[in-house]
Amino acid sequence: MTWTPNSWRARPANHIPDDYPDVDALANVEARLKAFPPLVFAGEVRRLKQQLATVSKGEAFLLQGGDCAESFKEFSADNIRDTLRVMLQMAVVLTFAASKPVVKVGRLAGQFGKPRSAPIETIDGVTLPSYRGDNINGMDFTPEARMPDPERLIQSYSQSASTLNLVRAFSHGGYADLANVHRWMLGFVDRSPQAERYKALAERITDALSFMEACGVSSKTVPQMAQVDVYTSHEALLLGFEEAMTRVDSTSGDWYDTSAHMLWIGHRTRQVDHAHVEFCKGIHNPLGIKCGPGMETDELLRLIETLNPKDEAGRITLISRFGSEGVKEGLPPLVRAIKKSGRNVVWSCDPMHGNTLKTDSGFKTRPVDRILSEVSQFIDIVSSEGCYPGGVHFEMTGQDVTECIGGAQAISEADLSSRYHTHCDPRLNGEQALELAFLIAEKLQLMKEAVNAEARQAS
Ligand code: PEP
Ligand code: CO
Repeated sequence: MTWTPNSWRARPANHIPDDYPDVDALANVEARLKAFPPLVFAGEVRRLKQQLATVSKGEAFLLQGGDCAESFKEFSADNIRDTLRVMLQMAVVLTFAASKPVVKVGRLAGQFGKPRSAPIETIDGVTLPSYRGDNINGMDFTPEARMPDPERLIQSYSQSASTLNLVRAFSHGGYADLANVHRWMLGFVDRSPQAERYKALAERITDALSFMEACGVSSKTVPQMAQVDVYTSHEALLLGFEEAMTRVDSTSGDWYDTSAHMLWIGHRTRQVDHAHVEFCKGIHNPLGIKCGPGMETDELLRLIETLNPKDEAGRITLISRFGSEGVKEGLPPLVRAIKKSGRNVVWSCDPMHGNTLKTDSGFKTRPVDRILSEVSQFIDIVSSEGCYPGGVHFEMTGQDVTECIGGAQAISEADLSSRYHTHCDPRLNGEQALELAFLIAEKLQLMKEAVNAEARQAS
């Protein structure tokens, strides 16, 4: 069967709503979207793929993060700026620790649709369809809100376009200047109860920046230091929307999904002969594949063979999400199988989706210590198999929310209700995210020192 942007329609498709009350209205919206300008450009997508190829070789590190689900309600310039600020801060810490460039990919400008564990929700004896993300239906628990509405696709396109516009402005307009980012980070280090632990690293970054400035290298003399590349990504879930955004690039003649630079296939939609894999097969964007409980080695190898038959470096990022309790058992066979196959991949860790629990008071939360433990085990497992732990994938926000428990501010179960704003899963707040970056940095530094020591011994 030959691939076309709509060949997925002949395959079984999970987690795509089939209860739009007016299918003609949906088709009409999809036709309008087909005529809208692309959100990202093929040249940018190719640049990201090249950068991910360097990650797959162990020469760079991937930092992917942002909202679990963007929402129409939380859409504001401040929110976007704050998320970006935290990502940039995390990236500085990681760049320094790993002595490698950090490839920055936001879960933003299109991360709306959500796969749900149950299609319906019952509250006080009333049963309604589950909330599926702002591009599909509304969060309010009413029959009207929960009805899928195609006009939401137009609103999410428009919000994604404005978000991207801001991201481009912030990342190239001076806001991302390394010196600024570093100064904000110092503010965090001073406030953190664990300040001592981070001070040493922060001071070394300060020294490095001062030294470079004394040598005449600063954003005043090297304008690139005031700029960064921030790419966008989301789960390729709602395939009607993705199909509408998929265009032939005039330079290469290849198909690109222009809704985001990178797309990923979720844990629940990775069946190799189903719609989501079929769609992703034909687009030339870098792809993530979530790897979690139940993923068999031969299944993973088939997925990679299907999605990357030419073994292009930078095409596939495997995102491990087993949970802190499951990673030790689930991950090693996959890493070994990939190594044995000789396939080019980036190994990344999503320490969020395997560590979600419900408190007695009904809040979904994630303990920061489990998140940290999973990242730490991931780095150990992948490197002990002789492969490169190349990235992390977080749900986070720059806002001071109380959604994940623990961390430097020691958010407790009782605190969760005070600022719990997420539209789906609990996110790390700005301080928790930065704290994690410091802790990952310590780990990467140890890894770097071990590699250096080995090299010294060998010579
Ligand atoms: C997500 O990344 O938002 C998500 C739903 O993850 P997963 O598919 O790994 O459960
Ligand atoms: Co999530």
